[in-house]
Amino acid sequence: MIDEVARRLEAAQRIVAFSGAGISAESGVPTFREKDGLWEQHPIGEVATPQALRGNPRKVWEFYEMRRQNMQSVEPNPGHEAVAELESLCDDVTVVTQNIDGLHQRAGSTRVLEVHGSLWKARCLAGCGRTVDPFPYPAYELPPPCECGSVLRPEVVLFGEMLPAEVFREAEACAARADVVLVIGTSSVVWPAAGIPLIAQEAGATVIEVNPAETELTAHFDFSLRGAAGRILPELVARVRELRA
Ligand code: OAD
Repeated sequence: MIDEVARRLEAAQRIVAFSGAGISAESGVPTFREKDGLWEQHPIGEVATPQALRGNPRKVWEFYEMRRQNMQSVEPNPGHEAVAELESLCDDVTVVTQNIDGLHQRAGSTRVLEVHGSLWKARCLAGCGRTVDPFPYPAYELPPPCECGSVLRPEVVLFGEMLPAEVFREAEACAARADVVLVIGTSSVVWPAAGIPLIAQEAGATVIEVNPAETELTAHFDFSLRGAAGRILPELVARVRELRA
């Protein structure tokens, strides 16, 4: 199957890599819904909703500051690197990621759409318009004060919030014109992001899932490569290179 997938990738003029927490798992970043995942130890209602943020911004910040601290010793893995390498095989590669860790960019991907925000940005909670990008680690105070007298909030999408409209529109547009979409390391349960590969598929793209486990949408996709992204993706990119040689 990997040879057929490599042929599709080799022929593609536009590729979207749509990623979730699983691609960063081999770097040591915990996923959300697997055993011992983040949501098991940190209930969503306490750390990842607008209500939690307004009720106890310090607690929400402590959760994100803990994640920012964990990231201090984390490096991109061969999965991120293989995604970045796709750019040397195809002129039009867009990474659409649900991840907020910045590892795709650190691996060298140049076009990354972060549909769930970033751990490395903050903005005014009261909406005065101030954004801090990059927001340095460690935060000087939790919650960090904003110049307007309010406090800053992490620039991440909380449950019940809209996705950043412009970024998401661009992600949908890239999906609609992609020839191939790689769906990497996501359980495909969080919408509207989970719909990105389906938009592509409806427009005629080949959709390939890379994941050690079956997901909600496996049955809808054209191909499933079962295994860890850090093993499968380098192998796939190497096959595409062979086809090019
Ligand atoms: P999940 O924790 O829901 O799913 C992680 C997926 O990664 C699972 O399907 C695993 O099987 C897979 N996986 C684990 N190790 C892998 C590996 N080495 N290689 C490839 N895949 C692997 O994480 P997401 O799907 O990213 O949103 O979750 C989506 C959203 O839900 C997140 O962006 C976050 C979360 O709530 C917000 O916080 C808004």
